[in-house]
Amino acid sequence: MTCWILVVVAILAVRGLHGLDNGLGLTPPMGWLTWERFRCNMDCDRDPDNCISEHLIKAMADIMAANGYRDAGYEYVIIDDCWLGPERDTNGRLVPDPNRFPSGIKNLSDYVHSKNLKFGIYQDFGTKTCGGFPGSEFYMQTDAETFADWGVDYLKFDGCNSNLYDFPSGYEAMGFFLNKTGRSIFYSCEWPFYKIVSGLQVDFAKVRKTCNLWRNYYDVQDSWSSVLDIVNFWGSNSKIFTKYAGPGGWNDPDMIILGNFGLSYEEERVQMAMWAILAAPLIMSNDLRHIRSSSKALLLNRNLIAINQDKLGIQGILLQKQNGIQIWSRDLSFNRTAVAFLNENSDGMPRFLSFSLVDLKLTSSTYNFTEAFDMKTNILVTRQRPLKIKVNPHGINLYIAKEMHL
Ligand code: GLA
Repeated sequence: MTCWILVVVAILAVRGLHGLDNGLGLTPPMGWLTWERFRCNMDCDRDPDNCISEHLIKAMADIMAANGYRDAGYEYVIIDDCWLGPERDTNGRLVPDPNRFPSGIKNLSDYVHSKNLKFGIYQDFGTKTCGGFPGSEFYMQTDAETFADWGVDYLKFDGCNSNLYDFPSGYEAMGFFLNKTGRSIFYSCEWPFYKIVSGLQVDFAKVRKTCNLWRNYYDVQDSWSSVLDIVNFWGSNSKIFTKYAGPGGWNDPDMIILGNFGLSYEEERVQMAMWAILAAPLIMSNDLRHIRSSSKALLLNRNLIAINQDKLGIQGILLQKQNGIQIWSRDLSFNRTAVAFLNENSDGMPRFLSFSLVDLKLTSSTYNFTEAFDMKTNILVTRQRPLKIKVNPHGINLYIAKEMHL
């Protein structure tokens, strides 16, 4: 362990400060992030509207404020990797790329705040970011202070180019320095992801005490296979992940990719509904300037957002998976349960399915199932009368079940 980490651990021990205590993330965060859609596009000559720049961030903030996203709850506008210039300044402070961020980050965050939105940024725990820009190793306190000075409200802290064994103390150190600035900064970590894919154990109790959000798996890509792979990974680890999610800290299956190139309408419904079941962050990465109305309607669907943001913050679990049909269940406030039926099959024809209350682990005798995308259709299900449904290929049916006293 490097010696600066030892110093911080000693400070933490003396102060008795063992966890994250920033009051943020009482429900999963919602917002927009550059990475999945805009990557590390730095070619502003050829692609001026889509390169990572203050222009792009302002354009998205404008749309989030004007077109209903902010009012639906999407509040963070976050720049991912590739915002930095190649070197720190002579005081060791981070410097944004001067051509793409000519007004500086403080002015950009002021702009985002002027739209009643919050501003987020990306850095890396290691010597360099994944894109090869200066990382925070040896500069954590300076960087935390810089972010606070710039009005940053959210930090995505990556784990490239670092020693995985330093993660627990290193991520804790950054959290400590962020808290020490006195500014409320939401803290998103990638620490479990790098450990899990390297076959190493993760101390999730410690992760939860340190971070508001943590990535557990590979980056989402613009495809159905990627979304399904993430859902399946969550299914296989459902019991462990669920244990640590709740108000203040959440598992992160990565960005919402609705509105991009890779998903059909049915598949977009799956991602929105599954991210609601998983109490996952709704951090979009898409081009809000050019988005299909059907994608926009799903992103702004208040019924799905309400499930996602349910105050109890209980993450859903996989109940069973058979013949490519997954059944997921999430307990909600007011004694309701969200139940999702996901059809992974690609055979073209919708599946006719029938489930008893026992299959769905619902213990009372009578339930009202309300279709949850529109909240308009109700189905009565009893011990004698199973739930009969039809689920499209690569599709999902989502219901809210509520016990009925007849
Ligand atoms: C890693 C992260 C991504 C993104 C890139 C940026 O791959 O997992 O989410 O931040 O780095 O380089």
